[in-house]
Amino acid sequence: MFAKVNSMGLFGLNAFAVDVEIAVSKGLPRFEIVGLADTAVQESRERIKAALYACGIVFPTNSAVINLAPADLRKNGSMHDLAIFTAILAALGRVQVPADAAVIGEVSLNGDVRRVNGVLPMVLKAKEQGIRTMFVPIENAREAAVVDGVTVYGVPDTKALLSHLEGDALLTPIGHIGLEESPHEMVPDFADVHGQGAAKYALELAAAGGHNALLIGPPGSGKSMLAKRVPGILPALTFAESIETTQIHSVAGLLDAEHPLVTVRPFRSPHHTISSAGLAGGGTIPHPGEISLAHNGLLFLDELAEFDRRTLEILRQPLEDRTVTISRAAGTIRYPCSIMLVAAMNPCPCGYLGHPTRKCTCGQRAAANYLNRVSGPLLDRFDLHIEAAPVSFDDLSSTKKEESSAEIRKRVAAARAIQTERFKGTGITCNARITPDKLAHFCPMTDSAKNLLKAVFEKLGLSARAYDRLLKVARTSADLRGLEVIGEAQIAEAVQYRTLDRKYWQTADA
Ligand SMILES: Nc1ncnc2c1ncn2[C@@H]1O[C@H](COP(=O)(O)OP(=O)(O)OP(=O)(O)O)[C@@H](O)[C@H]1O
Ligand SMILES: [Mg+2]
Repeated sequence: MFAKVNSMGLFGLNAFAVDVEIAVSKGLPRFEIVGLADTAVQESRERIKAALYACGIVFPTNSAVINLAPADLRKNGSMHDLAIFTAILAALGRVQVPADAAVIGEVSLNGDVRRVNGVLPMVLKAKEQGIRTMFVPIENAREAAVVDGVTVYGVPDTKALLSHLEGDALLTPIGHIGLEESPHEMVPDFADVHGQGAAKYALELAAAGGHNALLIGPPGSGKSMLAKRVPGILPALTFAESIETTQIHSVAGLLDAEHPLVTVRPFRSPHHTISSAGLAGGGTIPHPGEISLAHNGLLFLDELAEFDRRTLEILRQPLEDRTVTISRAAGTIRYPCSIMLVAAMNPCPCGYLGHPTRKCTCGQRAAANYLNRVSGPLLDRFDLHIEAAPVSFDDLSSTKKEESSAEIRKRVAAARAIQTERFKGTGITCNARITPDKLAHFCPMTDSAKNLLKAVFEKLGLSARAYDRLLKVARTSADLRGLEVIGEAQIAEAVQYRTLDRKYWQTADA
């Protein structure tokens, strides 16, 4: 007796079709799984035997060999349990499985079907390969239903699947889940922050062009408070972006069963004790890191100087390439990480270096060591260095109504609309992503702006990267004002955001 059931496998973010084939023949009793299956798959045998027993089916005493094809791709985890279970039922002649159906799920000893990671990328791939019906664990059902054009059944346990396939008690398909069906999380509002007008404007500029920003200032000046409010002024996620980010969260097993789509830009704020693999991705079974979980959103590194220097350095390449590459014997995995990076730090261990009234007690060497934990090349990747000055008593006690995130978001959205129009058909999404070859084309300047930029470049000894980034910030500043051509004022403004490194880093070196 032979039977075949479709399943799906996963390597990184890449899903692939797996054929679960079974041959039951006369011979000595045995039950084997072949086809590059890892230990979790090998352990399926025991779970499946128990699950069959729970359905009142006695496992055939004949020889049963299960092949997971293609044999050259490693099959990880327990996600094939349910397909193997179904294949056995089919080989025993109990059920017939349609050729355009696929089955994914882990089975527990009592026959319950458990959730698995990575269902969204697997269902997307299955659809591409002509699958029209998916049987998935009930907890993953809403996640699978994000894919339009595939009938999704949520399977609570093996008995329910058996009854459905036998035509006794049919499962109800889950309706398609769109963007509007997930509630928006509450993001804190800029209206709560008193004063700090300059820092707020700088963050508006950062959000408008998708620029990386570093906030520096004394303790309690509101750096963390400001950074946490940035997601609230970013433009809404598009459906395509939402699917991209949801796939990464799916692989990491972070999705909410009820509201599976990631509908707001992610805000990831890892603690400074995080490991390199935690931040950039990796591990024995490679998983996406915080930088990829923040894909299409914001990665916030609070207390930047407290992070391990080596961990931070690992971010340099992914920040430029917008993908993390992880190499393993089984192949190379790529996780996208198109993010806006926002970081906050004190200028020295005591926090008061450069403070207008309080004296720094650290001493020059300690301050320099502290600042040097953030390397020059990493510092260079922040387009905007923003000073969060101490808040004045008048600002704090003022009852004046501060501008809300919704109002700021309107201006950001207008600047983004100009960018969308400008970059049509180029694959560029915002000013921060302008490629070097297109820089001159998209950033025309007046003659006086050019002269100023030349003078600044020579005087400050800017790197080529700093030059590119400066021009992009000036582009965003012009967009916020509805200007086509970059003027002197926009260059001056962008330069001002590259001077803090001189104030702190170079005085510390002196
Ligand atoms: N501009 C402000 N308006 C209103 N409250 C503020 C402001 N700045 C700071 N606060 C208050 O001070 C608290 C501390 O601010 P926050 O944690 O953002 O400071 P920080 O700059 O990150 O400090 P640290 O360097 O110690 O991390 C906030 O929770 C808030 O209550
Ligand atoms: Mg803080």
